[in-house]
Amino acid sequence: MKEYPFCDSYKIDITEIDGFDNLHEAHGIIEKAQERAAFLYGSSETHFLVNGSTCGILSAVSGSVKKNGKILMAANSHKSAFHALLLNCCKCEFIYPEINEEYEIAGGIHPSDVKKLLQKNPDTQAVFLTSPTYDGMISPVREIAEIVHSKGIVLIVDEAHGAHFGFYEPFIKAYGMRSSVQEGADIVIQSVHKTLPSYTQTALIHINGNLADRERIRRYLKIYQTSSPSYVLLGGIDRCMGILETEGQDLFIRWEKNIREFYKIREDLKHIKFLGDEVIGSSGIVGRDVGKFLFSMKNTTTNGVCMYDILREKYHIQLEMAAGNYCLAMSTFMDTEEGFRRLKEALIEIDSDLKGIETFHEKFKFLKMSKVYEIYEVQDFKTETALFRECKGRIAADFIYVYPPGIPMIVPGEEVDGDLIQSVEYMREQGLNVIGIEEGKFRILERQDNGI
Ligand SMILES: Cc1ncc(COP(=O)(O)O)c(C=O)c1O
Repeated sequence: MKEYPFCDSYKIDITEIDGFDNLHEAHGIIEKAQERAAFLYGSSETHFLVNGSTCGILSAVSGSVKKNGKILMAANSHKSAFHALLLNCCKCEFIYPEINEEYEIAGGIHPSDVKKLLQKNPDTQAVFLTSPTYDGMISPVREIAEIVHSKGIVLIVDEAHGAHFGFYEPFIKAYGMRSSVQEGADIVIQSVHKTLPSYTQTALIHINGNLADRERIRRYLKIYQTSSPSYVLLGGIDRCMGILETEGQDLFIRWEKNIREFYKIREDLKHIKFLGDEVIGSSGIVGRDVGKFLFSMKNTTTNGVCMYDILREKYHIQLEMAAGNYCLAMSTFMDTEEGFRRLKEALIEIDSDLKGIETFHEKFKFLKMSKVYEIYEVQDFKTETALFRECKGRIAADFIYVYPPGIPMIVPGEEVDGDLIQSVEYMREQGLNVIGIEEGKFRILERQDNGI
């Protein structure tokens, strides 16, 4: 951002003084700024968010599903979506994404699964999915939107990782990087801070069509956002919109050039498998974020965590995350040619030291836990802690997730089973950051409350 100096942040760190509008009742400069963002994304209504996509997701769910109402939600959703279920007392049916076996990642959500589940659950009030996924995989949002709309309900898309989608034609054509706003979703939430030059915590919510209860969503935005929104953050979002508007195309062209050059290493890597376009068209994936780089270490002498550590410690390159068998790097249009070159050289050097070995891999699957209570129901139950490995058959009072990405493996109200214990223990052995278990212990419901 050195090329884009911002003014002294203290000078603009004002509050709702005269002439400077109010995010919660925008009728002046903030309204204008939001209108520019709406225009850029082709949305009919856009709000700036200063509490991240998190508050957009909480507001979208609370604004679309009545208390004790039902939502159909992708099981690979971010923890904020599960928190929305808790806060709004929602009943939930999960939709499971397809699995890409090759890379051991979640693929897309299949429209026919949405259709079946909606037929089975006619009382559903909204459908929620994440596209692109944390790994950059895109679901067929347009097809899903049509199915959801045929039932007269809204489709909410967590596009936290896709604020840069829809702007650059070559990326849209080659990789399907369209924004869900253009694909017909009713409510779309994007973290501008993740993939665009904008301050941490900044995000957008877009509302379109006539199915969403706009008034109710706006009411929740007032509840879930601070009453003192930072003008530094708001100014940062507007500045980011300005960069997109005036220089976006040039920046995308530079980025595309760097990316094209970078992908050439796929031919040089002998052991590390670098995910490419072959995933499009399989496992429910209709497109991918070409700026996300996924390196699989399957059948090599290393794993995702070691690779992540080597890149950081030896080459001073910070990746986005590590999983058991892969790691993920993120690039944006602000990355320099030097950055791409350094990552390329590091990967080639590491790859030349690796050996290919046939390693045993358990078939990757999405664990489907059985639900005993809804998340919100367990909040008032008595709880206790126990060694996690001895929790088989007990009911979770807490979430367990690996962070990043923050996608829960079990949520409160679900029953712990042997597969989960094995999977979590394996992840802990691999050195992943497993949240929810402390010193080997997990919070579960006391026996008298769950009748077991
Ligand atoms: C898929 C997804 N949705 C939502 C969020 C929440 O975004 P924010 O950090 O902007 O609140 C994240 C954060 O990592 C995410 O990965």
